[in-house]
Amino acid sequence: MASPDVDVCLTSYDYVFKPDILTGKVAFITGGGSGICFTIAEIFMRHQCNTVIASRKYNRLQESAKKLESATGQRCLPIQVDVRKPEEVLRSVEQALNHYGRIDILVNGAAGNFPAPASSLSFNGFKTVLEIDTVGTFNTCKAVYEKYMRDHGGVIINISATLFYRGQLFQIHASAAKAAIDSMTMTLCNEWGPQGIRVVGIAPGPIADTEGIRRLGAGMFDEEVLRNFPLQRMGTKRDVGDCAVFAASPAANYISGHTIVVDGGHWMTCDNNFSFYSKQMGAKL
Ligand code: NAP
Ligand code: COA
Repeated sequence: MASPDVDVCLTSYDYVFKPDILTGKVAFITGGGSGICFTIAEIFMRHQCNTVIASRKYNRLQESAKKLESATGQRCLPIQVDVRKPEEVLRSVEQALNHYGRIDILVNGAAGNFPAPASSLSFNGFKTVLEIDTVGTFNTCKAVYEKYMRDHGGVIINISATLFYRGQLFQIHASAAKAAIDSMTMTLCNEWGPQGIRVVGIAPGPIADTEGIRRLGAGMFDEEVLRNFPLQRMGTKRDVGDCAVFAASPAANYISGHTIVVDGGHWMTCDNNFSFYSKQMGAKL
């Protein structure tokens, strides 16, 4: 059995949308070598889209690209990039365009996170998460806009989170970063709509079998806690992937500037995990 931190393709996929709904398209997916964005890449490819998966760890990207190509029969190009560095981002977008000649869909999924109370989070810890999530999203949007979408239109999907809706404990860095991303989703919708660009956010709730949840404490989602979720379960990577196909497809042609919450209503009933974190981390506020 695969270890929980190794990403694998879905064992089967029953289509909800037309299998050719993204045919001829190319998606540039930051963070696509792992987790939720690996599955977004897979589900895009199952709908006949070619992909670029881009992040820092090139060996893992290569392995992921091989798995995605063999599961779907589509093409996947791995590109090494640190989204915090504009010159690397510009180079990675050029590399993608030299390879495929187009980028129709950009998914900004690269992110960093860990639980830490504000009182003990270092200045650099806060800055690092903002730089990966927020600055990284801006850098990639701007590079893809300048090099392709300004002249050809396209769809930008920003992966967000529901953390800041309730002032999530021990997440001051990631919450601030994702709030800023939702703000950019609205501004870019207004500024780039005339160029035929739609900008859509997707805010997943807790998604099972992901690095994000392993870091925040997978153990917090026991049976009792899940009974308080309206849909009585955690989300799946497929739940997010299917929403991304919808957002990228013509079915969402009049959706822009809005962040779609894919959490089964979780954020409204969540107790902010105070008792779990207090016990787990011995943390004082
Ligand atoms: P993940 O697998 O760790 O995904 C994060 C990705 O970001 C990794 O592929 C990582 O690859 C990449 N990355 C990190 N720093 C980077 C940098 N400086 N430059 C380029 N790439 C970088 O975690 P996940 O849980 O699936 O999360 C995926 C997305 O969903 C994130 O945006 C996260 O905030 C969001 N989200 C997740 C959940 C959840 O329940 N898991 C809930 C809400 C929102 P490298 O290490 O190779 O760079
Ligand atoms: N708790 C508190 N602070 C932490 C921390 C933790 N678990 N992990 C890192 N930090 C702090 C570091 O101490 C450092 O601050 P300092 O210089 O004041 O000591 C700062 O964050 C940067 O850490 P560093 O390891 O140098 O950053 P990096 O750029 O190499 O890595 C991270 C970025 C920290 C976000 C790393 O965990 C990562 O690469 N994450 C990607 C995967 C991920 O987070 N997935 C979940 C997505 S939701």
